Amino acid sequence: MQRIELPNSSRLLTPDFTFGVATAAFQVEGATEADGRLPSIWDHFCALEGRVKNGDSGMPACDHYHRWQEDLELIQGLGVDAYRLSIAWPRVMTEDGRANVRGLDFYKRLLDSLRERDITPFVTLYHWDLPQHLQERGGWVNRDTAYRFQEYADLVSRELGDRVHSYATLNEPWVSAILGHEVGIHAPGLEDARLARQAGHHLLLAHGLGMQTLRANAPDAQAGLVLNMGPNTPHSRRYDDRVAALVGEASMNHWFLEPVLEGRYPALYTRLYPEQAPQVLPGDMALISQPVDFVGINYYTRGVVSYDEESLVRNHPPGDVEVTDFGWEVYPQGLTDLLVDLNAQYRLPPLMVTENGMAGDDHLVEGEVHDEQRCRYLNSHLNAVHDAIEEGVDVRGYFAWSLMDNFEWAEGYSKRFGMVYIDYETQQRTLKDSARAFADFLWTRKAGR
Ligand code: NOJ
Repeated sequence: MQRIELPNSSRLLTPDFTFGVATAAFQVEGATEADGRLPSIWDHFCALEGRVKNGDSGMPACDHYHRWQEDLELIQGLGVDAYRLSIAWPRVMTEDGRANVRGLDFYKRLLDSLRERDITPFVTLYHWDLPQHLQERGGWVNRDTAYRFQEYADLVSRELGDRVHSYATLNEPWVSAILGHEVGIHAPGLEDARLARQAGHHLLLAHGLGMQTLRANAPDAQAGLVLNMGPNTPHSRRYDDRVAALVGEASMNHWFLEPVLEGRYPALYTRLYPEQAPQVLPGDMALISQPVDFVGINYYTRGVVSYDEESLVRNHPPGDVEVTDFGWEVYPQGLTDLLVDLNAQYRLPPLMVTENGMAGDDHLVEGEVHDEQRCRYLNSHLNAVHDAIEEGVDVRGYFAWSLMDNFEWAEGYSKRFGMVYIDYETQQRTLKDSARAFADFLWTRKAGR
């Protein structure tokens, strides 16, 4: 089994660096109709013909709603410092904006139990499960949804009190906006580039409004947001391919980061595509660019792009390189490059790698899962974080995606990202080799203090 090994002097080995595992509500909880939970856009999307592989849905997922105690045992067994989870908006809030006490109690019990185990909770407020009744009023394309999000953030931060160490308002708003409203492969499944950027603006507005509320209700908690990013490598040294790579990065990496850190959208993109520019009202950018305590970065792979006469940016599938079960290139250097590049371009707050991991073609054979590739992936990407820190980037934590196999959105249950294997028929949990390697690393690290 590939071990996780870092240089002895590595900052990752110090107590100031936070290690964790991550999940998200819709992907693990199941129990979609329990205790007054309302339908979300993903319940609705899953029910549409042909949208999610094999017709999979949020049921059963990992039935974490009922098995959370067993799952917290697993988390504790790994020796992590922290657990990143998300709250399901449709579980905790009624259609008329009141608290759903039974839904809230689930999270209160969970958070209390984390505290008893000395595991620090990192909570994401929005990991894509918008209540369907809000979608029926336009969803993120409707500006009003940002204000509904603020009410939800208010409810959660009042109810959960000081149980939460760190709040992220949003997870990967680029994915919600672009995959959900332009590419159409995620809920709500629209295909309109302008609406997508407008939805993105309202997500950012929701972030800003949410930040205000979190600061007022939870002044001691950390608050920020989580963005998906990856560097773009030009397919050749040609000038036009290099420009395409810059445009690709503006469209994804900078489109959400630049408004938050600098209060404006990337000029490169807005000038190239003025027809996509969202409607921005006076005061919006000030709200969006309030100081954050951290930015979370989710990193999986890089993009390789070239210039295309029609679409400007053309994505290339990986060539003759190592890929994961998703077909994504394994490229740890991209994580170092990304972090170093962001650090050169912005005045950054502390960063956390809030997700990193891979889908594997994992099989349970005689009670074991030999996910050798994931062990190597973990090791190489942790070393990539180490390298970025050596180059001066302030990275404070790393969360593996994911604790366990779960509902992988449009791919349903066909893609396994977990360090714990889930048998969806029996709901039996089995530690994969990667979980053992991670635990071995984390317990050794703790013992060395
Ligand atoms: C990022 C998302 O936040 C998470 O929900 C998803 O499962 C992983 N990427 C893997 O695709």
